[in-house]
Amino acid sequence: MNVTKIINLKTLKASAIAGVLALSLASCENAPNSPGYEYMPDMYRSPALKYYNEHTLNGDTLMSAMKPVAGTIARGYMPGVPVGMDYEKAGMYLHNPIPYSDAVLKEGEAIYGKFCVHCHGDAGKGDGKVGLKLPGAPPAYDGPLKDLPEGKMFYTITNGKGLMGSHASQLNVEERWKVVYYVQKLQGKTPGQPQAIPADSTKTAEVKNVKDKTKKS
Ligand code: HEC
Repeated sequence: MNVTKIINLKTLKASAIAGVLALSLASCENAPNSPGYEYMPDMYRSPALKYYNEHTLNGDTLMSAMKPVAGTIARGYMPGVPVGMDYEKAGMYLHNPIPYSDAVLKEGEAIYGKFCVHCHGDAGKGDGKVGLKLPGAPPAYDGPLKDLPEGKMFYTITNGKGLMGSHASQLNVEERWKVVYYVQKLQGKTPGQPQAIPADSTKTAEVKNVKDKTKKS
C-alpha cells in the first residue's frame, strides 16, 4: 500500500461519513412528501383546497366557492324588479331610485329617442311609425296611461307587456329608470315629484283599436 492510496481511502471514508451525517440531518422530517429542510415552510404547505368542498383551517370550518345566501345583492349593484314582485306590487311599491335632475331627464329623453319613439311617437301618443303598424298601437301616455305609476312603467320596460318586448337587455336598470322620468313628462306629470298612486292602479290600460291583422276584411 502506498501513502497516496491510504490518504485517498481516508478522504473517502471521511466524505462518506460527512455525507451520511448531512443526509441524516437533512431528513429529520417524517412526512414522505417533505423536501427535508424547509426554508419557507408556508409556501410548501399551502392548503390545497378543493372547490365546492368543506375545509377546516385553523379550527375554522370553511367552504370554498360558496354560493351567496339567497337574495344577496352585490355591493353597488342595483336590482331591477325584486324577485317575487309582480306587476301590481311593482305599481304600489317600486319607486325611482335615481335622484331627479334636468340632466337625468335629458338622458331619459335621449334613451326614449333611441329605443321607444318609433313605437310610442314623439309625444308618446302611440303614433310612432312602427307603433301604427302594430296590430294594436301603444296607448297614449297622456291618455289611457296618464295615471300609470312609475313602478308599472319600470316593470313593463323590464319584462315587456303585450306587443312591447322586454328592454332589459338593451337598457340597464339606471337607464330604464331615467326613461321612466321622461315617460312621466309625456304623461303630463312633473317628473321627480312624488306621484299619487291612483286607487284603481290595479286596472291595466287597455290597448285600444286592436286590429286583427290576421283577418282579411
Ligand atoms: C315595438 C314597439 C314598442 C317599443 C319599441 C316600445 N314600446 Fe312601450 N308599448 C308598446 C305597446 C304595444 C304597448 C301596449 C302594451 C299593452 O298594454 O299590451 C306599450 C306599453 C308601454 C307602456 C305602458 C305599460 C303598462 O304597464 O301599461 C309604457 C310605460 C311603455 N310602453 C314605455 C316604453 C318605453 C319607455 C320604451 C322604450 C324604452 C318602449 N315602451 C318601447 C310598444 C312598444
